[in-house]
Amino acid sequence: MQDPKRYTITAALPYTNGPVHIGHLAGVYVPADIYARFQRLQGKDVAFVCGSDEHGVPITIKAKKEGITPQQVVDKYHAIIKQSFEDFGITFDNYSRTSAKIHHDTASDFFKKLYEEGKFIEEVTEQLYDADADQFLADRFVVGTCPKCGNEESYGDQCENCGTSHNATDLINPKSAITGAVPSLKETKHWFLPLDQYEPFLKEWILDSHKKDWKTNVYGQCKSWIDDGLRPRAVTRDLDWGIPVPAPGADGKVLYVWFDAPIGYISATKEWAAREGKDWEPYWKSDDTKLLHFIGKDNIVFHCIIFPSMLKADGSYIMPDNVPANEFLNLEGNKISTSKNWAVWLHEYLEDFPGQQDVLRYTLTANAPETKDNDFTWADFQLRNNSELVAIFGNFINRVTVLTHKYYDGVVPVPADFNEIDEQTLAALKAYPAVIESSIERYRFREAQQELMNVARLGNKYLADEEPWKTIKTDEDRTKTVMYVALQIASALAVLSEPFIPFTSEKLRTMLNFAGLQAQPNWQSVEEYSLPLGEMPQGREGLIPSAHVINKNELLFSKIEDAQIQAQRDKLEASKAMNEAANKVMEPQKDTIQFDDFTKLDMRVGTIIEAEKMPKTKKLLVLKVDTGIDVRTIVSGIAESFTPEEVIGKQVTVLVNLAPRALRGVESQGMILMTEDAAGKLVFVNPDTDGVGNGESIN
Ligand code: MF3
Ligand code: ZN
Repeated sequence: MQDPKRYTITAALPYTNGPVHIGHLAGVYVPADIYARFQRLQGKDVAFVCGSDEHGVPITIKAKKEGITPQQVVDKYHAIIKQSFEDFGITFDNYSRTSAKIHHDTASDFFKKLYEEGKFIEEVTEQLYDADADQFLADRFVVGTCPKCGNEESYGDQCENCGTSHNATDLINPKSAITGAVPSLKETKHWFLPLDQYEPFLKEWILDSHKKDWKTNVYGQCKSWIDDGLRPRAVTRDLDWGIPVPAPGADGKVLYVWFDAPIGYISATKEWAAREGKDWEPYWKSDDTKLLHFIGKDNIVFHCIIFPSMLKADGSYIMPDNVPANEFLNLEGNKISTSKNWAVWLHEYLEDFPGQQDVLRYTLTANAPETKDNDFTWADFQLRNNSELVAIFGNFINRVTVLTHKYYDGVVPVPADFNEIDEQTLAALKAYPAVIESSIERYRFREAQQELMNVARLGNKYLADEEPWKTIKTDEDRTKTVMYVALQIASALAVLSEPFIPFTSEKLRTMLNFAGLQAQPNWQSVEEYSLPLGEMPQGREGLIPSAHVINKNELLFSKIEDAQIQAQRDKLEASKAMNEAANKVMEPQKDTIQFDDFTKLDMRVGTIIEAEKMPKTKKLLVLKVDTGIDVRTIVSGIAESFTPEEVIGKQVTVLVNLAPRALRGVESQGMILMTEDAAGKLVFVNPDTDGVGNGESIN
């Protein structure tokens, strides 16, 4: 769309059943924020909206699991999510929530209008039902085999493997996610949006008009759904958590979460407009508005097929100009998972790396899963910081500001004549705003950020070639020109970096004392006035003119040490171990024994006093144990978990009246009680009580 008058930028509403992690950030929020910040820098009218998606089955499931109400779940996570976005510098104009009254009203009115205009099919059909739980099974309450790709863990409304959205009754071998039971069928009334009727519109709007400008992954998914043929979709559910269906005969029914949530974008815009004293309608209904949905790939069908059909059914709304969906980010080679705690949580990152928001923003953009799934590793995070942010960007700025203070007490020098290299350098600088802009406008944020770093590289190369630290001794004029040009590059970096690493940009503007400038350097001035002084239009000076005084020097980035990285890896290892433990299948309980059977066991506290490996075996240690009764030999299969030295002196529990038996020719006179930790390492069942002497009985 050429020259829109305003931008409505939406970022997928996160489910409020857990905090936000790096996968969400890389896929949706960082690119959306770069885009919104960029448009604001261009002086554009921007409404950047988001909010918490607080309805739907995942919330109910989480509430059940934690024994609290759904409202308590969403209150808890809404607060965490909202705060962490803010601290991370995601500049939503409004972060709302779908439990807000304004949203209930907006979604309810939206449904009512369509209902009154006869846009729904009202039909009694048989739906999956779990009699034990007395609950209809839709969406995440049911799992089964995806009819399209064969994934055995597809949800009722969507398969996370192939992205297909289907009806719960389409699942093969459905099972209740609540009780595990095979569901029966039970009749119930619902309202369906006849997607098939919107096929001609979708074909023309997407397949004909957006073949060129939409990302191939997005276009391809849409095409495949449309080609498969669309069918009516239920937009209501038999649930008690959600927005009540405003229609007669709809008691106990709520709007399908994917019906209400996207309307959340509209409610969030309304709430913002009311606060700002603006009219919300042009942001959703005016043809000169560019509407964009930033989402992850699992949301494509909802944003490209279902929500647009809803908007079309209403008739008064514009369509999104683009839906730049990203693929997924993995973490250290594995799929990010909230339930498995395999994630880097934003609120935890902010605590572990205070003041280092930009390092994560930078790394996530550098590895953004724009065209394929990508992997986040802590090693890469460290490398990007140490060898790019510190060594390239930080190093350039540091050199420029330190030298300016050292040579000129912080005053921008008056340049002498510009030579060819200076002219070329300024000409190269002048070209960057348009290059970066072009990448951002095509949603290629990785590429845009690479170009930003090329500006810093340009600066480093210029300094390395011109060596002001040498010319200062021989040629004062030359040094002044070089420092002047380098300061122009530094100023351009302060401007151009803002969408990507805004905290750094802010620091840099403070360091360069932008507040003390009459003309604020901005995107346009970098583009227009990166020129030798002689070529400058009348009345214009450089971005940062001679005689301007900069502030004291500060480090923009600092090295991230191995220990910090290792701590993060340990955290992940710990959650892996926890998961394995949680998923471990417990052995069933053995047959009942009588008390007399138990009292036959004579267990005593003992201490291992000698230990050595049994020759030619991997598993066995030969131990001498003081049982309080005697000192005896016990052969124990613990050599893979302990060295002999480790066990000497350990107090342990010994079964002393076990019939002796020979192992590899050594008679073992008892048994030491062991268990296993999460990682499969053996652990002594030891008394852990000070002052318990050898020979004490255990009973
Ligand atoms: N909560 C959904 C998810 O996390 C996204 C909802 S986007 C909206 O996948 F359009 F419905 F708001
Ligand atoms: Zn599938």
